Amino acid sequence: MSDQPTNPIFNSNKLKLGTFCTNTVPYMTFIPERRDPTWEGCVAGARIADDAGLEAIVPIARWKGYLDEKPDHYSNVVFDVFTWAAGIAQATKYSSVFATSHAPNMHPVLVAKQCATIDAISGGRCSLNVVGGWNRREFDMFGIDLMEHDQRYVYLDEWLHLLRRLWTDPGEFDYQSNYFRLKQAISRPHPLQKGGIPIMNAAQSPAGIRFSAKNSDIGLISLQGDTPEQWKPQIEDYKRMARQEFGRELQLWTNASVVQGDTQKDADEFVRRYTEEYVDNECMDSIMATISRENNVPADSPQLAFMRRRMSMGAGHPLVGTAQSIAEELVRVSKAGIDGIIFTWVDHVDGVGRFVRGVLPLLEQAGLRKPHKKPV
Ligand SMILES: Cc1cc2nc3c(=O)[nH]c(=O)nc-3n(C[C@H](O)[C@H](O)[C@H](O)COP(=O)(O)O)c2cc1C
Repeated sequence: MSDQPTNPIFNSNKLKLGTFCTNTVPYMTFIPERRDPTWEGCVAGARIADDAGLEAIVPIARWKGYLDEKPDHYSNVVFDVFTWAAGIAQATKYSSVFATSHAPNMHPVLVAKQCATIDAISGGRCSLNVVGGWNRREFDMFGIDLMEHDQRYVYLDEWLHLLRRLWTDPGEFDYQSNYFRLKQAISRPHPLQKGGIPIMNAAQSPAGIRFSAKNSDIGLISLQGDTPEQWKPQIEDYKRMARQEFGRELQLWTNASVVQGDTQKDADEFVRRYTEEYVDNECMDSIMATISRENNVPADSPQLAFMRRRMSMGAGHPLVGTAQSIAEELVRVSKAGIDGIIFTWVDHVDGVGRFVRGVLPLLEQAGLRKPHKKPV
């Protein structure tokens, strides 16, 4: 194997790109254009992204949906992220295929082997998003208590230390702590990627950001505010902490919801349809109640109202407009210091196709990306 990283998240493109959440429905809407997850759809979207040289294909790890006593609600339908990643790895040639692990309900010995297997299938393109969990209802299904917020990151730190050790240790090892008891632990094969699988983490809180600055290759952040002047300090503080406290450089990525129309009017009208005419208010109410309860955000606060509006559009930064205006916004995001961005669409197969045809060439013209040469 050459010394060149096999994982494209380390390529030289200034703005890395990817798809997000294609293993489920990330929108709370009944709009007829909504794409529910099928394996054929997942592969079709992944192949378009892969052929175009997008760096990342990232699923979401969710164990159950947002409404109790509604087993047929679409939010319950989520493909398992590890077996999904193994299948996507086999179906693609270039993009990094991510899995996502809820540390408290997945033992590091299991995750170490799953990731090494996906790395072997993909030829060294596996990455891992590690999450500590936030949705108590998911943990109830496993009979596990959701830890106190900051404690989740203490646990995650130890969990990740063990994972990395399993990926690199030449022999067997014992390990004992309050959380873990491993006897003669070993995981073979080690991943193809030397040093282990790259780590992503989507923390937003001070404790989480500190964990991520110390441990992750990619921090996935939610941009606060609407302007580069608001984003820059958030990005710079994060990178400075990694550099000064931990002597590390990390990439910062964010996520965005894309509605790309032939005209701005078309795009705005589509947003109106899925966020107003067809909005799933019952599901939105339930998500907002959970966020309000778990994060102590008052139900009638402007902050929660803002989050509701944003979430009804899809998670993350809204990118609504023509190929030209979306490309211009991505240039602004990149100039603020963001290194990568992963996208959701109401129909991801249609969406990633339009994006690749319309926006990607403009990003190449802007110097943010090199044209992709498809591997043979
Ligand atoms: C882009 C993005 C992707 C995320 N993916 C997942 C996921 O797949 N599963 C999950 O349980 N939580 C996911 N989260 C939630 C985070 O792990 C974390 O709980 C949340 O950002 C709150 O951060 P904090 O723990 O620092 O308060 C995601 C968050 C963001 C912003």
